Amino acid sequence: MAISVYPVTENFAAEIGDLDLARPLDPADLAAIKAAFATYAVLIFPDQQLTQEQHLAFAARFGPLELTIAVHRKDAPLRVRKEFADVSNLNHKDKVWREDSRTRQFQLANRIWHTDSSFKRLPALASLLYARTIPPVGGHTEFADERAAYDALPEAMKRRLEGLVAEHSIFNSRGRLGFSNFSEEERQSLPPVPQALVRVIAESGRKSLYLASHAGRIFGMPEAEGRALIDQLIEHATRRQFVYTHRWRVNDLVMWDDRCTMHRGTAFDDLRFRRDVQRATVSDVANTRGGLNQASLAA
Ligand code: OGA
Ligand code: MN
Repeated sequence: MAISVYPVTENFAAEIGDLDLARPLDPADLAAIKAAFATYAVLIFPDQQLTQEQHLAFAARFGPLELTIAVHRKDAPLRVRKEFADVSNLNHKDKVWREDSRTRQFQLANRIWHTDSSFKRLPALASLLYARTIPPVGGHTEFADERAAYDALPEAMKRRLEGLVAEHSIFNSRGRLGFSNFSEEERQSLPPVPQALVRVIAESGRKSLYLASHAGRIFGMPEAEGRALIDQLIEHATRRQFVYTHRWRVNDLVMWDDRCTMHRGTAFDDLRFRRDVQRATVSDVANTRGGLNQASLAA
């Protein structure tokens, strides 16, 4: 039976039915999922019962998987396989983290608008977040459609943004929250990278803003002016009409296009309730400024 696609809006976010991701994926279904992904950018696969391996195997159908950047931090052993970003509020002993946990501080940045791994030379193409346990209140994930946000910009702004490149660093997003307690070794393991501010998504041909809390200065612009422009664009791109809020159900797998969406988690009582969610991340094939080159391959 072919998959069913239930759009949330005409061209942003869709639920996918009649599909069991624990079973081998039919090539026609994979093609239909890719087509839906190109149109809707956020796909919701409800009621999936997946092992870590099945979750990773599905993600790998879309490209090479990233390894978690937690391997650069020496804080604590990993709770899940190193191909996952563990975005739960649980420590390696599977207990709710403590208020003063460094991982907690680090992950607070998931509450501000971002796209995954824009701070890597080869950024993320897609993220696949799977919910095993969710809190009774709060802890939603919001998604912003940066293609629609681009389309809605005045023509003068579109012209102004043409060719602009921003510098992205994970220490920018953490710095925005006042978290700057990183070792030299940690800083050197994730140096800043350039990313285009506007990009074209190959599969749909649509233009999109490419923004994140990781973005800092814009090249060729005074630092403060660049930051102000980025903040203004993030504010624009996250206006209510561009946003879908996902209210999690246990066993939802949500997949989003990191090239043309931003997301953020909403607050919940993270010292009281368990929220066990883990993310597989598919790497893009090139830096946003252009073709595959030696520097981007080496990064
Ligand atoms: C992520 C992320 C937000 C959330 O997994 O990349 O930012 O709601 N998650 O957990
Ligand atoms: Mn994220």
